[in-house]
Amino acid sequence: MFRAIFLTHLISVNIFLIVYLVKTILLVSNKNTALAKFTKVVKVPEMIVSTLFLLTGVYLIMQTGASKLLIIKIIFVLVSIPLAVIGFKKGNKILAVLSMLLIIMAYGFAEMNKKKIVKQEIDPVLANASLPTYDILKHGAALYSAYCQSCHGVEGANGAGGINLTISQKNMEQMKEQVRKGKSSMPPYKDFLNDQEINAVVAYVMTLKK
Ligand code: HEC
Repeated sequence: MFRAIFLTHLISVNIFLIVYLVKTILLVSNKNTALAKFTKVVKVPEMIVSTLFLLTGVYLIMQTGASKLLIIKIIFVLVSIPLAVIGFKKGNKILAVLSMLLIIMAYGFAEMNKKKIVKQEIDPVLANASLPTYDILKHGAALYSAYCQSCHGVEGANGAGGINLTISQKNMEQMKEQVRKGKSSMPPYKDFLNDQEINAVVAYVMTLKK
């Protein structure tokens, strides 16, 4: 479900961008008849796609919370829409190009957001495996909320950018492998988490499985 919505969002963003790009190019190159024709043809599909894109976007934010980068992205998108509307209505190339640039920058931010891992502070007492009170699951839970929750959701169940971990078919070794190496939009953690940390976070994730 979450993955389907995430994919719908990605696909509708891409279609939206392509349509938008074609329109801007036609406007800038003075192909007014072609622009009018194209605008008419894509009118209804465009409305559907932009509605999908906005609704799935709102849903994803509700799931993951808004990071700073995401807020900048949303502001860019929100500013670009009236610019585009006015730009195309008045045939104002500068406004149309400006709004296109804003959208592309917002898209760039989304890409930047993807594979970057920011080192997080973990409670040193929880993380200290040589203490007699060390509890691997508590250590794992702390790592999980620091590194994984943003995509996989609280207790693995409602990840917006990831997938539902509670129904994962993977065993412990396969999960460790995935955390080390990453896959698609999930970043590789091998340079950020040591073996102890990967063992702990995966041990915790295993307990989330239904
Ligand atoms: C940027 C988002 C993101 C972050 C952060 C992230 N994941 Fe993922 N994770 C994903 C995506 C997307 C997939 C699905 C990859 C695929 O199969 O295409 C995934 C898949 C997985 C899987 C495999 C599930 C299965 O059954 O296929 C495991 C296990 C997993 N993640 C654990 C973690 C752990 C543990 C962390 C934290 C250390 C983490 N993930 C952080 C996005 C993320």
